[in-house]
Amino acid sequence: MVTKQETSRQIEEAVAILRAGGIVALPSETVYGLAASALNEEAVAKIFTAKGRPSFNPLICHMSGIEMARDYVKFNDRAEALAQAFWPGALTLVLPKISADIAPNVSAGLETLAVRTPAHPTFHEVIAKLGTPIAAPSANLSGRLSPTRAEHVERDLQSRVNLIVDGGATEHGLESTVVLVDETQVVLLRHGAIPKSAIEACLGEDISEATQDDASPKSPGQLLKHYAPRTRIVLNASPKDAGTRDFWVGFGDGTAYDLSPSGDLREAARVLFDRLSQLDEIADDDSVIYVAPIPNEGIGAAINDRLQRAAQSGD
Ligand code: TXA
Ligand code: MG
Repeated sequence: MVTKQETSRQIEEAVAILRAGGIVALPSETVYGLAASALNEEAVAKIFTAKGRPSFNPLICHMSGIEMARDYVKFNDRAEALAQAFWPGALTLVLPKISADIAPNVSAGLETLAVRTPAHPTFHEVIAKLGTPIAAPSANLSGRLSPTRAEHVERDLQSRVNLIVDGGATEHGLESTVVLVDETQVVLLRHGAIPKSAIEACLGEDISEATQDDASPKSPGQLLKHYAPRTRIVLNASPKDAGTRDFWVGFGDGTAYDLSPSGDLREAARVLFDRLSQLDEIADDDSVIYVAPIPNEGIGAAINDRLQRAAQSGD
């Protein structure tokens, strides 16, 4: 494996590796993705092996735009409106699959396919040059913190991928928002970089959220343990909880590991995984990471979702 700064040569190299059935890590505007040609079952299988990902957990298929997506999934009016409003960008739509060309392991045998058009120019160019969809989960080991820098991909997947294209820190720092769109409703399957309220404003209607109970058939990935650092995390804490070997992660208080000194939720989202990863490296075995309450509005809902999963993972 080699990490390389993104240049036009790296884009060509990534495309060549994908054409030959290899896997490459690419920067996106959300988190780094581990890419394979979505039409190549063997290449897609390499993603599952490299990540240690259970085969029942389907992958997102990345498209160059709505035109490419139309060849593989069926858009209804709501799906069309959402794609027009948020693509290219951090919204993933789960829609009925209409093509047999997508390798069956991409959607883990489901009748639906999750699709999005990434806004990151590198990812976009790689799809455009390849000319066909790219399957890509986040480029981390299954269950670990998601990668927002090339170094995070190296930490987890070094020697398991053919190339890591380094595009610097990602813009959002959190994964895309995932919604299921069917004839009757839109259901939020995963909070992410696009707030639920923005989706509701676009559609002019409230949307429901999948509960853990019905998550199984609709969004298998949400049932798994996720974002697990080695170190124990305690949420909604106060600075006085933290002893000398512990860490205090504030929000808007100007302390050393503050997620955003100005109290900006977008900034907090951008640095969250990097901060947890950094503290996980320097923490002792018995250190605890105490985190301040984060407002649950806008992208704060996605931050809290990731923190809750990270805090649960020691079980
Ligand atoms: O921002 C992102 O979404 C990043 C970048 C690389 O695009 N990708 C990402 O992929 O986060 P991953 O595999 O870590 O998460 C995809 C989520 C999982 O929870 C999976 O279960 C769900 O999307 N998903 C994929 N296909 C689905 C389908 N057909 N039906 C329901 N859920 C699906
Ligand atoms: Mg992931």
